[in-house]
Amino acid sequence: MATKKNLTADRASVGHKVRYALSNPTRIAPYVKRAARDSWLRFKHPDHVDYYRAVMASDTGRNPEAAVGSQTHDRWLALGKMQFDYLLEHGLAPRHRMLDIGCGNLRAGWRFIDHLETGHYYGIDISPDILIAAKRTLTDRGLQAKLPHLTITQDLTLDFLPDRHFDVVHAHSVFSHSPLSIIDECLAHVERVLAPGGRFDFTFDRTEGTEHQVLREDFYYRTQTLVDLAAKHGLKARFMDDWEKLGHGQSKIRVTAA
Ligand SMILES: C[S@@+](CC[C@H](N)C(=O)[O-])C[C@H]1O[C@@H](n2cnc3c(N)ncnc32)[C@H](O)[C@@H]1O
Repeated sequence: MATKKNLTADRASVGHKVRYALSNPTRIAPYVKRAARDSWLRFKHPDHVDYYRAVMASDTGRNPEAAVGSQTHDRWLALGKMQFDYLLEHGLAPRHRMLDIGCGNLRAGWRFIDHLETGHYYGIDISPDILIAAKRTLTDRGLQAKLPHLTITQDLTLDFLPDRHFDVVHAHSVFSHSPLSIIDECLAHVERVLAPGGRFDFTFDRTEGTEHQVLREDFYYRTQTLVDLAAKHGLKARFMDDWEKLGHGQSKIRVTAA
C-alpha cells in the first residue's frame, strides 16, 4: 500500500488541525487522548529522550508492533521486508557489519540478523520495553545462534562502539521522531564508527514547506536542512530517489564520508 506524501502541510498549524478534524471526525477523540498523555509525559520528562522513552513504554505496553508504527502484523512484516530488500539491492552482504540505530522490535532487524554473519548485527535503542520485545522477535524467529548485539542507549554519541567498524549504519523511522539536536549529535559521531567506504542511511519525514513537529513525537524537516547538517560535520548527503519509488511515507538520505 503506497503512502502519498503531503509535502506542504504544516500539521502544527491550527488551520491544518481544524481541516483534518473536520474530514476525519473519528480521529478527534484518539488525538485528544494522545495529546493529553503526551503533555503529561513531557511534564514528567523534560528531556526529549526520556520523554520519548516514556512514549515507547506506553505504546509498547499496548502493542509492540503498533509502537514501531505498524497497525497490523502484515504491515509489520511488509515494512521490515521493504527495508531489508532495499539494503539488499544496495549490496548488503553477509560479511558486512551493521549498526541499526533505533532497532525497535526488529521489524527489519530479524531479517538483517538472519542474512548477516554471526555477531555482525548491532541494534541500539533508547527503549528498554521495545528491546524486550526485540528479544521476543529474535526468539520467535529462532535466531539465537546469530548472537546479535541489542543495547540500550541514552544518546547517539556512539561512544561505546569501536572506530571504523560498521559497513552499514541504518536508522529507519528514528529521525522522524527526533529534534534536530539529536540528529546533529548522530551526524557528529557517525563517521568515526563507519568502516572505509561505509554509509549511513536514514529516513526522515520530509516537508517542502515550514519545518514543524507534532506532539514532539513527529518531526518534519526539509531535505536541505539535513544535507547542510551533514556537511557541517564533513559528510556528504545524498537524497535517495529510488527509495521514493517504493511509496513509503518517509524519505531517505544516504550519508558517506566526504
Ligand atoms: C518507529 S520505531 C522504528 C523501529 C525500527 N527502526 C523499525 O523500522 O522497525 C522508532 C524506534 O526508534 C527508537 N528511538 C527513538 N529515538 C531514538 C534515539 N534518539 N536513539 C535511539 N533510538 C531511538 C524508538 O525507541 C523506537 O524503537
